Amino acid sequence: MNISDPSFRLEKQIKLPEDEVHLWRVDLARVAHEEEKWKQVLSEDERKRAARFHFARDCQNFTATRALLRTVLGSYTACDPSHLVFCYSDKEKPSLSPDHLGDRIEFNVSHSGTIALLAFSRGRMLGVDVEQIREDLEHEALARRFFSPHEQQQLAAAPENDRIHAFFRCWTRKEAYIKATGIGLSLPLRDFDVSLVPGDENAMLSTRPDAREAARWSLREVPTDEGYVAALCVEGHGWRLQS
Ligand SMILES: CC(C)(COP(=O)(O)OP(=O)(O)OC[C@H]1O[C@@H](n2cnc3c(N)ncnc32)[C@H](O)[C@@H]1OP(=O)(O)O)[C@@H](O)C(=O)NCCC(=O)NCCS
Repeated sequence: MNISDPSFRLEKQIKLPEDEVHLWRVDLARVAHEEEKWKQVLSEDERKRAARFHFARDCQNFTATRALLRTVLGSYTACDPSHLVFCYSDKEKPSLSPDHLGDRIEFNVSHSGTIALLAFSRGRMLGVDVEQIREDLEHEALARRFFSPHEQQQLAAAPENDRIHAFFRCWTRKEAYIKATGIGLSLPLRDFDVSLVPGDENAMLSTRPDAREAARWSLREVPTDEGYVAALCVEGHGWRLQS
């Protein structure tokens, strides 16, 4: 599902069955300039947060992404988007306030460059990550710092012309998992291994110290724009992706 029209709105309730995960792509280059319109949907604390961004573009991107997150959530929960209340974990992961516990809607957001991805499920924890591929990073140093030994071996074995993509496949898959758990970087990044295989639909290889944790999650690459890599991590198996 693609949002690239600045007049985007949802008139009726969208169904989110338990065996589906919905992934929306926001084309920030085409919608973020409608800042005044998106601001109307935000809460007071969100407007204050938007005003604190140093760069106007970051402010616009945050405002549009948060307003569209509210718009889609409003449709799943049959609520006015501007009335939704978020709460935040101690690691800042947003979720719907306990008023909406009955809906069991889980969501996660990621943005990079001119894209935002919004992922939704009913009753399944989930995390999404999108990264714009950058060639100007110290990939090898970052891999040594953040990737597990098995991931570093896979990266070293990747064909040279695929190595930067392989780096971002690893990064987004790890990030999607830590975002799904909500624990953030207090989860040691070397305590789990992901696959770097392109398009792998079962990319969670192993977890330590509890090996059973790996089977609890489905981790996969999701298709996205040229020049970007994205991954989605969802609790449980047997769901279908609608995107
Ligand atoms: C939020 C975090 C988990 C991801 O940040 P990021 O990749 O820079 O940013 P993304 O765009 O993918 O995600 C940001 C969104 O995730 C959500 N989020 C915030 N904290 C979160 C958390 N603890 N868990 C899950 N989602 C979170 C928010 O909706 C946020 O968007 P918002 O600020 O517009 O509301 C970050 O705090 C973090 O810990 N990053 C780790 C970076 C790193 O070193 N990764 C190594 C990978 S190998």
